[in-house]
Amino acid sequence: MSTSVSSLIGKYDIPAPRYTSYPTVPYWENDPNPQEWMHSVAGALQRPDAAWAAYIHVPFCETLCSFCGCNTSISRNHDIEDPYVTDVLREFDHYRQNVPELDKAPLKEIHFGGGSPTFLSAGNLARVVEALTSRGVIADEHEFSIEIDPRRARADQLQTLYDLGFRRVSLGVQDFDPEVQRLINRNQPYSDTVRVSELARSIGYTSVNFDLVYGLPAQYLETIRDTVKRTIALRPDRIALYSYAHVPWIKGAQRLFTEADLPSGPDKRALYELAREMLLEAGYQEVGMDHFALEQDPLWQSALQGTLHRNFMGYTSRRTELLLGLGSSAISDSWDCFHQTNKVSRKYQKEIQDTGHSTLRGHKLNAEDLELRGYILDVACRLKTRLPDDLYADVQDCLSEMAADGLVQFEDNWLIVTESGRAFLRNVCMGLDLRMRRNKPEARVFSQAI
Ligand SMILES: C[S@@+](CC[C@H](N)C(=O)[O-])C[C@H]1O[C@@H](n2cnc3c(N)ncnc32)[C@H](O)[C@@H]1O
Ligand code: SF4
Repeated sequence: MSTSVSSLIGKYDIPAPRYTSYPTVPYWENDPNPQEWMHSVAGALQRPDAAWAAYIHVPFCETLCSFCGCNTSISRNHDIEDPYVTDVLREFDHYRQNVPELDKAPLKEIHFGGGSPTFLSAGNLARVVEALTSRGVIADEHEFSIEIDPRRARADQLQTLYDLGFRRVSLGVQDFDPEVQRLINRNQPYSDTVRVSELARSIGYTSVNFDLVYGLPAQYLETIRDTVKRTIALRPDRIALYSYAHVPWIKGAQRLFTEADLPSGPDKRALYELAREMLLEAGYQEVGMDHFALEQDPLWQSALQGTLHRNFMGYTSRRTELLLGLGSSAISDSWDCFHQTNKVSRKYQKEIQDTGHSTLRGHKLNAEDLELRGYILDVACRLKTRLPDDLYADVQDCLSEMAADGLVQFEDNWLIVTESGRAFLRNVCMGLDLRMRRNKPEARVFSQAI
């Protein structure tokens, strides 16, 4: 890590959103009612060449990893699968009845996320996919993907999904070191990851992603070096190298390990920098923040072509007019409106059974939100954005210290993130986040920027 970056970490390591949306979720305030939401979904699909993507959230895992920030509940009782899937399909049917455009616009993407989608049997995974694809139109170039827990994924699940058109899998790896795994309550022998990665390749999956996390308890340079070395040996096409988000006030299980074991500030960043160096040397390209891809991978190609997009799932190689989230806690995005279902699966299911629809919260974006959303996406995906005069002057003023530190440059209305500034992308986005600048959170809400 360059000394300039390392010396600046103390200054910029402050709580910051991850900017998977703008406005960020704590600033959603302008809820759509169910009619407005359906209207917005239909409106998205009426835009020229509109296509849609489905995200299905499976909020179950068999054991709890203590570091986990995802929305999940722990169960070993698989009797809960059938009724949950039935309610997800009920929710989808309700959308179809209200938005006939869903059967006409091409379906481009299906993503299963969680929790652990591999909690569901092959039969239940197929029920969901068949309901989504049996009517309507599937785009010729579609991308179907699933998040896999290598400790539990089975061949019949992977084969069934492959037969239904899935070609992309994402494996939860986190870290291969046994002591780190012990501390995060995730015993995952290397052989599990090798087995599932090779199984996916042998079935015919063309894209394998690994999720790694840096900043976990008892992670050191030596341990992450070994994890990255073993990762490179398996040659995943993509790697998400997430910064550990420590939010114990939201996720109580994160109190199960002691904070004294957590690397922070420059020590935490050094883990990323070492992993980055090794990955670049092995032929991977750095994409946005926290992501790497092989050169031929669509994620890197879209970064080169300037079409990279970022949404609730992280970076994607394309944008669809509508991301329709199904299942408990799933977030949908119609570009001018966000919507999230109830996070408690029991309540989500009750609401779906009663009305076909579940809402926890949402937000109708106003003209300023839409404009800022574009600039923030530009910065997160393209590391630069061109601003109108008044905002340019305002952001220049707000980020003057970052400019003096060589992290951003201002030129002819362009805000440009420098190579050293990449480590502080979340801080740069904060300069464009007018909602947060006007109304700073009083309580702890976001994880640290680094
Ligand atoms: C839904 S999980 C992946 C699938 C499966 N549940 C598993 O763990 O294998 C999504 C990913 O989010 C990341 N993640 C979870 N909690 C996190 C946290 N507190 N900070 C950073 N990344 C986190 C992990 O890398 C995890 O693989
Ligand atoms: S990391 Fe994955 S398996 Fe572990 S608790 Fe979170 S969602 Fe479940």
